[in-house]
Amino acid sequence: MTEVQSSVSRTDSDGFLGNDTLLSVRNVSLRFGGIHAVDGATFDVERHSITSLIGPNGAGKTSAFNVIAGFYRGKSGSVLLNGEEIFRKPPYEIARQGLIRTFQLTRVLNRGTVLDNVLLAAQAHPGVRLRNLFFRPFASRAYERRAQDDAMDILEILNLKSHAKAYAGTLSGGQRKLLEIARALMAKPHLLLLDEPMAGINPTLGKEVFEHIRNLNASLGTTILFIEHDMGVIMRNSDRVIVMSEGRVVSQGTPMTVRHDPAVIEAYIGKRAATATGSDRVGGAAAVIARHTAPGQAVSGRAVHADLAGGN
Ligand SMILES: Nc1ncnc2c1ncn2[C@@H]1O[C@H](COP(=O)(O)OP(=O)(O)OP(=O)(O)O)[C@@H](O)[C@H]1O
Ligand SMILES: [Mg+2]
Repeated sequence: MTEVQSSVSRTDSDGFLGNDTLLSVRNVSLRFGGIHAVDGATFDVERHSITSLIGPNGAGKTSAFNVIAGFYRGKSGSVLLNGEEIFRKPPYEIARQGLIRTFQLTRVLNRGTVLDNVLLAAQAHPGVRLRNLFFRPFASRAYERRAQDDAMDILEILNLKSHAKAYAGTLSGGQRKLLEIARALMAKPHLLLLDEPMAGINPTLGKEVFEHIRNLNASLGTTILFIEHDMGVIMRNSDRVIVMSEGRVVSQGTPMTVRHDPAVIEAYIGKRAATATGSDRVGGAAAVIARHTAPGQAVSGRAVHADLAGGN
């Protein structure tokens, strides 16, 4: 198996991986009644990169994923995958073009085995067409063997191979997250959108999940766009970071650029506090964001406010 590599080391100083855009999101908007969940969002995802999409609760990250993957119909904009327009296409067509998303809440079949769960996600089974069972039985069987081999390879990359025969219901939280990723990988995506792959699991397991995500990025070349709140995880695992606030993209760049961008602090703690933060009182934006981005810790507006109130 390929060793886990730091994808970050593959980037140049700007965090670009050769200027090869896989996903291009342009001026995308989505409204729910009076709410602008996504408000003219524009960003790119480079091929083979690991890119994070961050922002405070309600910033529009999941909504952006839903529009990109075709689960919600955007109001306006354009989404190009490999140069092809996918905006407002149905999810199954977008999936067929190589973009798969996972959900904030894990969806696995507890009463199936781990291997069954992965195999169920396999696309275009020739046996599904009844006539193939009678007229093309060998094609059907060859397909099943291939799917089984693919499934076992994927389970190996994600360190679940030894659990292949276990019921999915017996897996730990972290392993269930990995199983959902394994299911997504059966479609052989070019681009995998992961909505909070660490949600609901402890930080130690979360770190392991990210090691496996980096492993599959390195070994299969899968481009990853993930939503995450933990700044330590974001900084360690992202080639590029996109920051959303109130439906808009307010900053994007390398983890270091974004970390020092006052617009990012403003997104998390509000304009007035950000202005105060920029004063000598706390030593500027970088100091505050650094103070609240320790590994294992999400940026918390409340913590920043408490910090400011304390005057240190
Ligand atoms: N199905 C929906 N119907 C109505 N409003 C919605 C719906 N989904 C999201 N919203 C609203 O759209 C805005 C963006 O929500 P979204 O879930 O995209 O945020 P998020 O950045 O993913 O937040 P979180 O970090 O909490 O998951 C919020 O104001 C939310 O209340
Ligand atoms: Mg969300």
